[in-house]
Amino acid sequence: MLKLIGPVRDKRVLDVACGAGRYAISLHDRGAKVTALEPSPTLLTAAKHNAGPRAPQIDWRLGADDLMQELPTGEFDIVLFAMMLEYVDDILEAFEQAHRLLSRDGFVAASVVHPVRMGSRREDLPGMQQAVVVDQYLSTGTATFSSWLTDAEDEPVTFTSHHRTVEQYVEAFRQAEFVIEQILEPAPIGRARTVAPRIWEEGHRCPQFMLLKAAKRDAS
Ligand SMILES: C[S@@+](CC[C@H](N)C(=O)[O-])C[C@H]1O[C@@H](n2cnc3c(N)ncnc32)[C@H](O)[C@@H]1O
Repeated sequence: MLKLIGPVRDKRVLDVACGAGRYAISLHDRGAKVTALEPSPTLLTAAKHNAGPRAPQIDWRLGADDLMQELPTGEFDIVLFAMMLEYVDDILEAFEQAHRLLSRDGFVAASVVHPVRMGSRREDLPGMQQAVVVDQYLSTGTATFSSWLTDAEDEPVTFTSHHRTVEQYVEAFRQAEFVIEQILEPAPIGRARTVAPRIWEEGHRCPQFMLLKAAKRDAS
């Protein structure tokens, strides 16, 4: 994601749904002026905690897509939607807001769970063949998942996310008048081979993430 974003010194960055702050903090450390929105008070507190002494240098705000509407037009050079579009009901509205908020040469950097990953997981296949196989790819809509996370009562946390095809992401960017400059489908980096061998192996057979860079400027 940082490679896709490129140099950020003196750039104004809006990190929408910053989570625990990993990009807000990294981009601040690389010289960006960061505004970070986060709808979860718990995550916003964690992000500030993770930022440590530089927390006051980042503009943290409680909220997300709703807050985008309140921000001034043309105020940012980069809008970041990292691993959060799956939870947004109306991505066209989010992209239109991003378009309004960006300066003339601004761009969006977005990452999502790769749409092919929303297919069925085949646990019945033996050994290394256990993988995600693409299935029901065109059956778009919401699905509720039980995650590996547990709540205070030790119950699995469930969450609802949208499955969209690659075409739907590209089409929403096009409708919001963005020009897609780059799509990345990164494989796990070498270090992951020892840290998480199964994820490394699987991630080399089927992409885990899709990253998009969409520019505001006219294609001509
Ligand atoms: C997987 S985390 C990603 C956090 C961060 N962007 C990152 O990459 O580390 C998903 C984020 O989406 C946020 N989120 C959940 N539902 C949302 C919604 N409907 N609109 C905007 N953000 C939402 C969560 O609070 C969380 O910060």
